[in-house]
Amino acid sequence: MRRIALTVSTAILIGASLPISAQSQNWSITELFTNSDGQIQYIELSSASANQGGLSGISLISSSAQGEAEFNFDDDLNGDTAGASLLLATDDFANLTGLTPDFILPNGFIPLVSGSLDFAQGTDTVEYSAGQMPLNGEQAISGELQPIVPEPTNFAGLSAPLSVDPFTTFDASDSSINVPVLEAPGVGIGNVNFSVDLDTLEFTLRNDYFLYSGGITAGNAAAEFQNGTVLYIPALMFGNEIYEANLNILDDDPITFGNPEVLSVMPVLEPQPDPEPEPEPDSDQESLTRGISAYNALCQQCHGNNGQGVTAPNLVNSSFNTFDVLRNKIDATMPKNNPSACSDTDSSSCATDIANYVLNVLQDGS
Ligand code: HEC
Repeated sequence: MRRIALTVSTAILIGASLPISAQSQNWSITELFTNSDGQIQYIELSSASANQGGLSGISLISSSAQGEAEFNFDDDLNGDTAGASLLLATDDFANLTGLTPDFILPNGFIPLVSGSLDFAQGTDTVEYSAGQMPLNGEQAISGELQPIVPEPTNFAGLSAPLSVDPFTTFDASDSSINVPVLEAPGVGIGNVNFSVDLDTLEFTLRNDYFLYSGGITAGNAAAEFQNGTVLYIPALMFGNEIYEANLNILDDDPITFGNPEVLSVMPVLEPQPDPEPEPEPDSDQESLTRGISAYNALCQQCHGNNGQGVTAPNLVNSSFNTFDVLRNKIDATMPKNNPSACSDTDSSSCATDIANYVLNVLQDGS
């Protein structure tokens, strides 16, 4: 995976100094996907031509009412580009799907509601308005703004299925909730926002809603307006919990819901960070660990649990205090009552392990 590294000025310099990049712009945007909060996003580009690997210095610009963001390709592709795909995606996309993007996009790079993407200064642009980008977690759009089943494919030709539930989210800054996908029979499928009065728990429809255009489906976890009276919200993310709730209509001008009935509450499952890998014990540590248990089993009844000596000599102040001498003594003669029980062989390192233990633990510091 590569990250954005180039500044605008180096991008221009490199673009100017590398003739190859001028040949590498036969890519077009073929798929765009964002989930409802912009964390899971990908852009797929495809090329019909060969020799389109020189991407360094080319930019991809995203624009929306919120502003502009620039992504600069900081690396080239090695391999045949004819018929190939190129995948730019967020880290969260990679974690969710296990598919490795060719380049990493920052979260929220693709405008959620309306905006445009411009590849290589106008070589290919996609522009969409409110209602054209599905936020249902089930569909992407093609470069021609057609809703499609997401098929993110990277340069290696690998693909992964993708499905994300759209959550209703609370925005504390203006005390509103956004319902990304609401199915209202007879009206259509829309994206609506409500102002929330936190004292009365009344939800008043704001006028910044929009209906999705044809072909965009409700998806898996859409909110539903049922029987003209109840707003069913399957998943409202609030703090660390996900509420499933019904709101009942109170007024139709302005449309206001209230009397929430909570149907279920689930904790938000944070993705668990990968556990720190245990350091691999080095071979000395493994030998010591084996040595401790072999000593306790075979030697301590005569030499004592700390090598202090019981019926047999003390090993702590023994003249057997170099590795070779000690190992050879054990290998050949110990345990006294059964010397073959601790010998170094193809399948056992008993004498070596115990010699390590005696020298490094029992005799250590003496
Ligand atoms: C049944 C009792 C017995 C057991 C079990 C036994 N030893 Fe011994 N060990 C002796 C006796 C007795 C001597 C002294 C005579 C000799 O050196 O053979 C001795 C001597 C030694 C010496 C030489 C010490 C010195 O300073 O002279 C070493 C080293 C030693 N044992 C290691 C071991 C180890 C390691 C084990 C376990 C694998 C072991 N022994 C198990 C009885 C035992």
